[in-house]
Amino acid sequence: MTQPMLRDAYGDSPAVNYERYFVPTIGMPLAQDLVERAELQRGEQVLDVACGTGVVTRLAAERVGHAAVTGVDLHPGMLEVARTADGGPVIEWHEASAEALPLEDASFDVVLCQMGLQFFDDRPGALREMRRVLRPGGRAVVSVPGPTPRLFDVLERALERHVGSRAAGFVATVFSLHDVEELYGLLEGAGFTDVQARAEPVTLSPPPAEQFLWQYVSSTPLASAASALDEDTRAALQQEVVGGWSSLAGDGRLVLEIDLTTVTARKP
Ligand SMILES: C[S@@+](CC[C@H](N)C(=O)[O-])C[C@H]1O[C@@H](n2cnc3c(N)ncnc32)[C@H](O)[C@@H]1O
Repeated sequence: MTQPMLRDAYGDSPAVNYERYFVPTIGMPLAQDLVERAELQRGEQVLDVACGTGVVTRLAAERVGHAAVTGVDLHPGMLEVARTADGGPVIEWHEASAEALPLEDASFDVVLCQMGLQFFDDRPGALREMRRVLRPGGRAVVSVPGPTPRLFDVLERALERHVGSRAAGFVATVFSLHDVEELYGLLEGAGFTDVQARAEPVTLSPPPAEQFLWQYVSSTPLASAASALDEDTRAALQQEVVGGWSSLAGDGRLVLEIDLTTVTARKP
């Protein structure tokens, strides 16, 4: 009774799918904004923490010219894609945790972190590491999304019902850190000064519901849980999500409204 799921079209690794689908729809527009806010100058040394497949890292490298730009991520698959896409200015990639950066003290002018801080087990520790590797006067620019927008609320509930708490918990984690007071506390607690946090609504335009569902699932850690589902469960998940998203469609695409908080701070 079920048609072949669109999901079956996304058989590559989550990191490949992340670069192919998530980056153009969500990662790139947000990265352009983050890099703009960082006011990067030619010749500055930049570190991108939780760089993923490197969308921010590459944009930063274009801005600063051929000075050293470094990307760090915990996930070897993401870095493998980052290295493949690397083709412009020289970028140094490190597989490491944000909580233990394999980098020297006071070696960067700017640290960037887009949609990474909310995933770290030890957020204060990761922020202390960012401060450690900055030169005095250097700046950090960190962005986090949340609270959970309606579109992802629908997805989280459907995942809870059809896949399980762990899968739903992933979506909850994505949007788990957005309280501005909490962010001030974290940055100041890690020794930053001139902390400024600004929350702004952003409207993005993902592809139609069925496509976006499976593109998102196959681009994230949800991929392995989803691939273990039987056809009927996949169909039930898709039916619930696509139905729940029907009021969020416009012009053939979805309308995704998220709040994004960008924090800028300085190392004294
Ligand atoms: C949503 S992705 C964001 C990637 C990239 N910044 C972007 O905007 O496309 C989150 C990234 O955080 C990385 N990550 C999660 N925990 C980490 C940690 N403790 N240290 C370093 N990277 C981590 C993941 O591997 C993943 O690549």
